[in-house]
Amino acid sequence: MCGIVGYIGTRKASPILINGLLRLEYRGYDSAGIATLEDEGLTVMKDKGRVKNLYNIPGIDDLKGTIGIAHTRWATHGKPSKENSHPHVDNSKSFSVVHNGIIENYNELRKFLTDKGYKFYSQTDTEVIPNLIHYYYNKDTKNDDMKLLRAVNKACKDLKGSFAVEVISKYDKEHMVVVRKDSPLVIGKGDGENYISSDIPAILSFTKDFYLLNDLEFALLSRDDIKFYDIDLNPVEKRVQVIEWDAASAEKEGYEDYMLKEIHEQPTAIRETIGAKLNEGSKCDFDELKFTKEYLQGVNKIYLVACGTAMHAGLAGKVMLEKLCKIPTEVDIASEFRYRDPIIDDKTLCIFISQSGETADTIAALKLSREKKARTLAITNVIGSSITREADYSIYTHAGPEIAVASTKAYTSQVVLLALLTIYFAETLGVSKKEVEDLKKEIIELPKKVEEVLKTDEQVREFGHRIYQEKDVFFLGRGIDETVARESALKLKEISYIHADSYPAGELKHGPIALIENGITVISIMTDPKLVEKTVSNIQEVITRGAKTLVVTNQKVDDKMFDTVVHIPETSPFVSPILSVIPLQLLSYYISKEKGLDVDKPRNLAKSVTVE
Ligand code: F6R
Repeated sequence: MCGIVGYIGTRKASPILINGLLRLEYRGYDSAGIATLEDEGLTVMKDKGRVKNLYNIPGIDDLKGTIGIAHTRWATHGKPSKENSHPHVDNSKSFSVVHNGIIENYNELRKFLTDKGYKFYSQTDTEVIPNLIHYYYNKDTKNDDMKLLRAVNKACKDLKGSFAVEVISKYDKEHMVVVRKDSPLVIGKGDGENYISSDIPAILSFTKDFYLLNDLEFALLSRDDIKFYDIDLNPVEKRVQVIEWDAASAEKEGYEDYMLKEIHEQPTAIRETIGAKLNEGSKCDFDELKFTKEYLQGVNKIYLVACGTAMHAGLAGKVMLEKLCKIPTEVDIASEFRYRDPIIDDKTLCIFISQSGETADTIAALKLSREKKARTLAITNVIGSSITREADYSIYTHAGPEIAVASTKAYTSQVVLLALLTIYFAETLGVSKKEVEDLKKEIIELPKKVEEVLKTDEQVREFGHRIYQEKDVFFLGRGIDETVARESALKLKEISYIHADSYPAGELKHGPIALIENGITVISIMTDPKLVEKTVSNIQEVITRGAKTLVVTNQKVDDKMFDTVVHIPETSPFVSPILSVIPLQLLSYYISKEKGLDVDKPRNLAKSVTVE
């Protein structure tokens, strides 16, 4: 949560910083601010609310500084307000800091500094950082190019928690210092100028050359150079990584919202994720994984661990792994897994799914699994993200940058990658040969079928128009369709603010059916031929009680029974979530639009949840 941007070069920093912040707003939008080094010293401009409010601050266009830092906030400590906005400064207004993360021992540090005469003007945890830097800077008697770096380094040694931090000072107009621990930060290398950002797409239009910092690594940036150091300030060598993403893919390209664009990008995202891994007639190829038959035969359990939508993709993964590979598989929510002392040993394979690769709980769960000697595998969409630096192995969805807070193309790409991984395991084990061959054919057909499903847009939109003022919506399904019910309920909640619940269809009569009354909306997914009749019976039960019904199906059902039936192409039940979720992504999108809400930036949410 929170987005940070930095610039050091020869151009005016402020427009570059604001431009970067606008692209990072998905990470939080409670307040925004920038600090630049002007001739007269440090200038800080900030305000509550969206990044665009910065344009209304008098004098912001007159800033000339060519070094600056910037921040868009997702509030943790202290309510959204001007005084709690970043950048923060020390008492002498000599050092300015932006911070993404949480300083867990900030009360202790506040006391330490207060005892030394420092005053605090915000309720944030961050404000201790510039003051600690001031404290250590003043104690350092050496005056050289490393003085700011040394002060930041000493201050960071006192911090507990997570932080991605940028620092500038009026005492050093040639440098900027950055450091990260458990929060994202990338460095873009330009020609006579350098950039900082919380993610790659925000600065992709400026450079394709990136350096990725590991935990507790520091960078000292000047206009022409970037030097890296470890926690003891020993120099560290780093190689530039060239990022192949196209800058245009992080733009809206004529769509009204990122979410709609990303829904429509799913055929491409799936095609790219399949890539060269699957070719008819040959085995599924995961070059980067060297899992032997002996290793897989010895696996006692697979854990799929993730949060939110990524966890829902894991639920589909479980069905495939258990049915085709016969390996017991559990799905766990990362924030629960990390605290419940799961039974894991060196024969356990723990798979972590995260679009951003930065989710704090998922990374903590991964670290725990490694401590317990499990083999760890990360599935992520972001090359070089924190999770890939922690896991034994990493494999990638190739969905391209996902900007809308509500995840769509990342989810379907994750389900595809889990299907491919299942095939790879089954082929290595030499099991379920016929089912695996059938599934391979179905996967290759998916991009075309997704294009077909996108044509249901108008029908879904009409249904959305009928129900957008509802207060409660229920989603039902059985088997793998129940996993889609969960994902669809989450999507509706997060962007339309309608209360939505999902249930296994057979569970309804054990309690929730008491909530069904005249006019209530019940949405069901029916793609498994073995279960369709059972679910139809459950829907009959709610129709009898007056429910309005929408059905998403690839089976033959009696259309007259339901208010709206969305027909989608047939496919293997294993990968049916990839098709059945799409009309329901569109439904949430259109309902949110009808309600006049900000689809891409729903309230209280952030794209990348880097705090626990
Ligand atoms: C919902 C959504 C979230 C994320 C969750 C995990 O649409 O996007 O539930 O799926 O915060 O994020 P990642 O995948 O980045 O770890």
